[in-house]
Amino acid sequence: MIAKIGIIGGGNIGGVLVQEIANRRLARSIGLVDVKGPAVASGKCLDIAEGIPVINVDIAIEGSKSYEVIKDAQIVLNTAGVPRTVRADGSIPTREELLATNLQITNMVADGIRSYCPEAIVISVANPLDAIVFRLFQRLNISKNRLIGMAGVLDSTRYRYFVAQAAGVSVESVNAMVLGGHGDTMVPVRSCCQIGGIPVEEFLAVDVLDKIEERVRNAGAEIVGLMGTGSAFVSPAWSAIEMVESIVFDKKKILPCCVLLEGEYGVNGYFVGVPVVLGAEGREKIIEIKLTDTEKQAFDKSVEAVKKTVAEVKAIA
Ligand code: NAI
Ligand code: 2OP
Repeated sequence: MIAKIGIIGGGNIGGVLVQEIANRRLARSIGLVDVKGPAVASGKCLDIAEGIPVINVDIAIEGSKSYEVIKDAQIVLNTAGVPRTVRADGSIPTREELLATNLQITNMVADGIRSYCPEAIVISVANPLDAIVFRLFQRLNISKNRLIGMAGVLDSTRYRYFVAQAAGVSVESVNAMVLGGHGDTMVPVRSCCQIGGIPVEEFLAVDVLDKIEERVRNAGAEIVGLMGTGSAFVSPAWSAIEMVESIVFDKKKILPCCVLLEGEYGVNGYFVGVPVVLGAEGREKIIEIKLTDTEKQAFDKSVEAVKKTVAEVKAIA
């Protein structure tokens, strides 16, 4: 347990984060900031706080419109940003189409972190993920180990779920990783996917795996299409919580996270999803794994997509 976790953005993901941090006793206090309504963050926090006697947890939960509420947080989760919704014509925008709106919000987020918890480890969730993390890096005077984007854990848990369903085995027996950018070019790494330590190809035919990986790449849009008015929020929050737990308990889990690459995987100066060791210091080590030629080509293509969006970030800056 740490002293304080700050959450920026008290919408769908932010709300689940507050509940999970309380439920799992990860911090003694939570500060949630959201600019919405007269006092949406306060209302959400009071609702959860009034329930903590039932779950037997002593934790201070405070919501506010002011960023002061995240003062001295040791970990900050950033979920401030609009999500994707289905358009009137039934089409679904890409995550990249959220960029202009969410960059404005991110500037405010960065000011808040700089003013109230400049030493925090920052886990950012808002989309388009890799580009928003890049903007935070531009605006925060932060060491590279303390700024991490969440997407790979979510994309990988989706991959694990689909594989477990197709193979008829427990999700606990499936290991899988999705690397690259959090967009349509993300790379489910089949050579790392195992069931009970055995290569996945020994359980599932190639055409089944091809379909699963296609579904993983479109999993975010699939949920937007079903829900209409927003995107997935429980699985993203749980994914961020897995990262928080690894940091709070210094577990040193190896998780796919969006971090600054400086030559690793042949990439320099961009935030991209790769396997990292997450511990008390944040991102403690990048693990370079051997990809097949096809996976490497797909990874390079995904990096090109990230670079394209980051070029827009630089232009807007
Ligand atoms: P939401 O709309 O339910 O919540 C976002 C909240 O941010 C709103 O309550 C809004 O008032 C607040 N906000 C806006 N500007 C703010 C500011 N300047 N300061 C503080 N709060 C502010 O959206 P949801 O579903 O929680 O998603 C949040 C973001 O996460 C979206 O950009 C979405 O695309 C992204 N996302 C990322 C995933 C990933 O894997 N990285 C997965 C799912 C969603
Ligand atoms: C997701 O993958 C929209 O990025 C969000 O669900």
